Amino acid sequence: MTLQTLDMLSVKGRRAFVRVDFNVPLKNGDVGDDSRIRAAIPTIQWLIDHGASIVLASHLGRPKGKVNPELSLQPVAVRLGELMQRPVRFASDVVGESASGMAAALKPGEILLIENLRFDPGEEANDPGFAEKLAGLADVFVNDAFGAAHRAHASTAAIATRMPSAAGLLMAAEIKALNTVLNEPESPLIVILGGAKVSDKIGVIKSFIGKAEAILIGGGMANTFLAAKGIEIGNSLVEADRIDLASSLLQQASEAGVTLLLPVDVNAAEAIDRPDTSRIVEVSGVDPEKMILDIGPETVRTFDEWIARAGTIVWNGPMGVFETPPFDAGTRGVAAAVAVANGYSVVGGGDSIAALQKLGLASEIDHISTGGGASLEFLEGKELPGIAALEAQE
Ligand code: 3PG
Repeated sequence: MTLQTLDMLSVKGRRAFVRVDFNVPLKNGDVGDDSRIRAAIPTIQWLIDHGASIVLASHLGRPKGKVNPELSLQPVAVRLGELMQRPVRFASDVVGESASGMAAALKPGEILLIENLRFDPGEEANDPGFAEKLAGLADVFVNDAFGAAHRAHASTAAIATRMPSAAGLLMAAEIKALNTVLNEPESPLIVILGGAKVSDKIGVIKSFIGKAEAILIGGGMANTFLAAKGIEIGNSLVEADRIDLASSLLQQASEAGVTLLLPVDVNAAEAIDRPDTSRIVEVSGVDPEKMILDIGPETVRTFDEWIARAGTIVWNGPMGVFETPPFDAGTRGVAAAVAVANGYSVVGGGDSIAALQKLGLASEIDHISTGGGASLEFLEGKELPGIAALEAQE
């Protein structure tokens, strides 16, 4: 099946309903990190340049079908207007009088953002009646919300059966990049996984066993693997109910000839707020009273060597408690190695991206995914409803 792309839509003089992922962090009522807003601008600009008017729609947070003023998209409309240096109108409801009246009045080149889709219970229910109302706001549907593509909601799934539909530029770029690393990677393919839980990454590990040359594991999730190997991990975070699973993944990797690399040294301390007690120790020497909070320098060096000779690199998840120095050193080391590596690199996950941004290295990465859950599910090889809806149009 072929993905319908923007250039296949006739948009001149028409109104486009554009689903974006403006689920951004708010700080004291203002937009914090605006990367997701910036990432949607090429599609908005493309539509303006091709003579369309634009009705933007997004969710923000999880208001559970009820109006919650704290999760209004109004500050996002303000930020988008600043970034694009043009007026962005804002409708105070989702499909009510404000949205429908303002949408109907749009002239080519004009932009309207409607209120948080999840204020209406029909959105998450993928309700056909709600999808019909959304579709009534415009003539064509463009889905640029890769970050929400794993959700079968009215604005990502049901709406696509009601009007001519296409993927936006961001959606298409995300699919292309993730498809490259999943299905046609330049070898050797090296996958770096971190973050607190093995349970979040099981699907991705399984998907890459048999494809990757090596899977490098750090972060809290490494502890569960270390425990599976019978290594003393003291008071470290561990998913006790996943230790057997970790053993089985180690076994599967070894049978498939995939190197599954665990930390050889770690930074351990009495607690996250006791950096004064932190020590770099060999992984076999963790004090039973301490907890592992980062990978150690020898591990970073080993990971760097693999990363340096990779043809393709996938990285998702921090190597330690990145927010709290000195437990950020492992994540920083890996970020720097991925940034200078020659291989094609794709990075997902908020903390890995934050590390790259802090180090000013984000521009060195070939593709930074705007999707958290969506990019993981894509890499697991799952079909994402928001993408499937755009393929079923033929
Ligand atoms: C995200 O931030 O990962 C997406 O916007 C999806 O949000 P959700 O997990 O609330 O559906």
